[in-house]
Amino acid sequence: MRSGAPLSGTTRVSGMTKNAGLKQMAASLLAPGVTTLRNMTPVADLDVMVELLEAMGAGVERRGEEVRIDAGAELTPEAPYEHVRRMRASINVLGPLLARYGRARVAMPGGDNIGSRKLDMHFDALEAMGAELDVRHGFIEARCNALGGARVVLEFPSVGATETVLTAAVLAKGETVVENAAREPEIVDLCTFLTKMGASIEGAGSSTLVIEGVANLTATDHTIVGDRIEAGTLLFACAIAGGDIVVEGVPAANLETVLRKLGEMGVVVTATPDGLAARAVDPLMSVDVQTLPFPGFATDFMPLAVATMAVAHGTAIVTENVFDNRFAFVGELNRMGADVSTEGRHAVVRGVPRLSGAPVRVSDVRAGAALLLAGLAADGDTTIVDTYHVERGYADLPGRLRALGADVTRVREPTREDPGA
Ligand code: EPU
Repeated sequence: MRSGAPLSGTTRVSGMTKNAGLKQMAASLLAPGVTTLRNMTPVADLDVMVELLEAMGAGVERRGEEVRIDAGAELTPEAPYEHVRRMRASINVLGPLLARYGRARVAMPGGDNIGSRKLDMHFDALEAMGAELDVRHGFIEARCNALGGARVVLEFPSVGATETVLTAAVLAKGETVVENAAREPEIVDLCTFLTKMGASIEGAGSSTLVIEGVANLTATDHTIVGDRIEAGTLLFACAIAGGDIVVEGVPAANLETVLRKLGEMGVVVTATPDGLAARAVDPLMSVDVQTLPFPGFATDFMPLAVATMAVAHGTAIVTENVFDNRFAFVGELNRMGADVSTEGRHAVVRGVPRLSGAPVRVSDVRAGAALLLAGLAADGDTTIVDTYHVERGYADLPGRLRALGADVTRVREPTREDPGA
């Protein structure tokens, strides 16, 4: 890829398969019946979740962007390491399996390229609800006679722990109250999905969730939420490459903080009836950024912000508060001529006028998107390898950028390895 004309045109966001749809596929195990999920844009991680559910005995059918999961059969409540090591979202079967079968055996995911990613809050919450958990020979072994409602106070509004409690509490006996719950739009979408299944949940989108367990859930039909991270990625692409684009299919409310930051950088973003219009200005200004759980500036946008400010006017301090090792991409960005130094959770980004194209390697999904964006502001060719990380969360990001006028060509199909994140 190389830098070229400013971006222009209108594009529609994909469904948020990786961070919302896959969680709902796992939650479909709660109801013995056929669940239909729509707007499931095909990303690489979808293949892994399909294989995992099939390995447990569920039937999965895919037709275009529709996925049907038949969890009617007696399932084997075990998630093998072979799947979990390829995709952390496999852990999302733990809550549903425990709630439906009273036992689950799920391979323990390790740390990955963005951090140590502990599961202590998931475990504490399930234990508070009456489960017993052990980690033996690399597997989480969980069992309970019956899950009971509990008051769960999360130390941090973890997305994954909130999902685990939700999917266990919906079938538990009595009321569960989750304090300091995650508020991400993907959590709201999961609550909507579970409610359609017959769950009783109050407070979706706030820090307190109140779940009244029910005896049974029924399979349902749901269209998953649009991908706010893909939308943000395209807006940052417009910021770095220049131009004028419209991104449809995502409400501005799901991107509020990132839109404010883009505004401070000098990108003019306005809400349209069905999305957002962005116009980049020259020069871009550097702004300090700190990542926080929703509604703060999402950690997933941090690498994109760093890549963009690598060519902005001034110096920015970027603080990563969510993951403990998310700056691995900075070394690659610096190989392209960026001036970014890191110290622990902080990065100092000193803007330079241009980057210079170089071969670079991707370490995780958003790092890969950031390097793609950097290539839009680099003289000469940028060749990006290990792009399978990008395919895990984006459906053909190079093609989306190309449709908006970027000079990006896929030279070779990515081959999947052990990605982690
Ligand atoms: N944490 C703990 N203990 C726990 C759970 C989490 O210490 O029991 C820590 C984690 O180690 C991390 C922080 O809390 O440092 C936040 O973790 P969280 O549970 O909120 O994140 P996650 O569920 O593991 C999801 C997304 C991430 C996204 C984060 C934050 C999926 C599959 N992953 O991860 O997405 O960055 O929420 O919004 O939904 C990505 O898409 O690139 C990505 C990494």
